Amino acid sequence: MKKRGGGMSDPYGDRGNKDRSIANSEGQGSVMPKASGKSHAAPGGPFLIGDTMTGGYGKGPDILHACTIAVERGEIAVIVGPNGAGKSTAMKAVFGMLDVRSGSVRLDGEDITGLSPQARVAKGMGFVPQTSNIFTSMTVEENLEMGAFIRRDDYRDTMAQIYDLFPILKDKRHQAAGELSGGQRQQVAVGRALMTKPKVLMLDEPTAGVSPIVMDELFDRIIEVARTGIPILMVEQNARQALEIADKGYVLVQGTNAFTGTGKELLADPEVRKSFLGG
Ligand SMILES: Nc1ncnc2c1ncn2[C@@H]1O[C@H](COP(=O)(O)OP(=O)(O)OP(=O)(O)O)[C@@H](O)[C@H]1O
Ligand SMILES: [Mg+2]
Repeated sequence: MKKRGGGMSDPYGDRGNKDRSIANSEGQGSVMPKASGKSHAAPGGPFLIGDTMTGGYGKGPDILHACTIAVERGEIAVIVGPNGAGKSTAMKAVFGMLDVRSGSVRLDGEDITGLSPQARVAKGMGFVPQTSNIFTSMTVEENLEMGAFIRRDDYRDTMAQIYDLFPILKDKRHQAAGELSGGQRQQVAVGRALMTKPKVLMLDEPTAGVSPIVMDELFDRIIEVARTGIPILMVEQNARQALEIADKGYVLVQGTNAFTGTGKELLADPEVRKSFLGG
């Protein structure tokens, strides 16, 4: 287990203590029969990587230009950058919602560049998109049930774990998700993604539009999820706060990697501070 940062005043330094209650380190066992003894190409590489991805929407121009984003086992990776930089596009490319014209996506060493988003979910990817990430007319519990759509086993334990993680969702489980506050809706969206027992979680702006207090709470919950052993790749508008909890950070500008480093390195970089962190 890699130690986080320098350990200096690090409130989340014990994140490596993993109980694997939500994590599914063995994969989707009962859903997709797995070839046994299958070898993985790069056991030491990142758990999930979109590697030098170039591509755009439909027949439109390239939005991503040799863009790389990745997350290692047991870590939180954060993507920041100005509006329109291509952060969501990069996430969609990793999730298979966009054809990459060159480059590749690998999960646990396996090339998954050609797989559909559904197939990637079956492989263990959970994705919470930036918008339209819940069913507003359905109840909280129905939203979580929808998240379990690929599972044929009993998912009640997972639901109980999600209610432990987000107690407010248990209180409001019979309410329409659309009636919830912004922060609570984001909890529904993350909970829905966790229902598949993902091996890696991708979050696009999980704290968009919430107050600073709610943002802190959501970050704490995200750290808790990471502690259960699920690597997290997330886009964040609250760059400074996000880089504080990031093992790895990526600054994207115009579809390309402008700066990459540990969260601490980026926070300390004068150029990153001046251009992206407000000085
Ligand atoms: N569905 C789409 N079809 C065509 N172009 C798109 C589509 N979605 C985004 N774009 C374009 O791709 C570029 C990058 O957008 P993207 O949403 O990835 O940026 P972002 O970094 O996530 O921005 P924000 O911080 O506002 O969420 C923009 O020029 C945008 O207009
Ligand atoms: Mg975006």
